[in-house]
Amino acid sequence: QVAAASGHTVVLVDQSDEILKKSTKGIEESLKRVTKKKFADKPEAGAEFIEKTLKNLTTSTDAATVVHSTDLVIEAIVENLEVKNQLFKSLDKFAPEHTIFASNTSSLQITKLANSTTRQDRFGGLHFFNPVPMMKLVEVIKTPMTSQKTFESLVDFSKAVGKSPVSCKDTPGFIVNRLLVPYMMEAVRLFERGDASKEDIDVAMKLGAGYPMGPFELLDYVGLDTSKYIIDGWHSLEPNNPLFAPSPLLNKLVEEKKLGKKTGEGFYKYK
Ligand code: 3HC
Repeated sequence: QVAAASGHTVVLVDQSDEILKKSTKGIEESLKRVTKKKFADKPEAGAEFIEKTLKNLTTSTDAATVVHSTDLVIEAIVENLEVKNQLFKSLDKFAPEHTIFASNTSSLQITKLANSTTRQDRFGGLHFFNPVPMMKLVEVIKTPMTSQKTFESLVDFSKAVGKSPVSCKDTPGFIVNRLLVPYMMEAVRLFERGDASKEDIDVAMKLGAGYPMGPFELLDYVGLDTSKYIIDGWHSLEPNNPLFAPSPLLNKLVEEKKLGKKTGEGFYKYK
């Protein structure tokens, strides 16, 4: 959405037409929200902005064909190293020499993803934040193999889509998630111990620390499955780090398919 809105030609690729239809609808709705604010007293310019943005955006279920004519690939699939590597390995065969690959992974090592391709120098991390149209930050991750040219291209691209890039080494969680995820897990542990209700913890962090959402609201917003993938991955890397300890409650909710806002229930109900 933000790439198309800033004049880039975008092909959104996913596994089925049904998912793509849902995604496109989500983008249209989000664009309306952005436009309402940006073009508050110019509805015609707003309508033109939406039309232009949607013209820049097409969809496909055939990544191998699409990647033939792509300068930049941004992967944002399930947070699983093997599945991501399988995708990158196959795209690497079809993409032109100059194409840069980037992952939007929240927690996996970019180096391990880059190693599934033959273009380690043209591979980096490009980590966006939910909701992307509103959150100004992008983390740009340079592995020891990422060329300076690739890094600069990723920084330039982030600026071109209207974001403020920061850079971080290829370390677990980069900057934001390395701080945010342990904080959210500590909130769950506080609740699990029965020290405070989740409602009070959320109110406390909003009114006492000025956060726009409390940790349970944010966990539901990010997705409990995604949060679990992140913490499980880090726990396997550092089993003795108490900040990365899994939570029985989080595991139980994921098992029950209560994944947060997207499924209508997580820590809270949304129906
Ligand atoms: N698209 C477009 N606009 C959106 C939007 C979306 N998806 N979601 C919210 N907005 C806009 C609304 O239209 C509204 O615009 P307005 O000011 O003109 O009315 C504005 O954002 C504020 O929205 P709301 O009034 O509905 O609600 P809030 O004031 O609570 O703001 C929020 C919503 C921006 C999501 C705010 O609560 C927030 O900043 N929350 C924290 C988000 C956060 O921490 N994100 C990081 C998550 S971690 C992550 O993504 C990393 C990953 O790897 C796990």
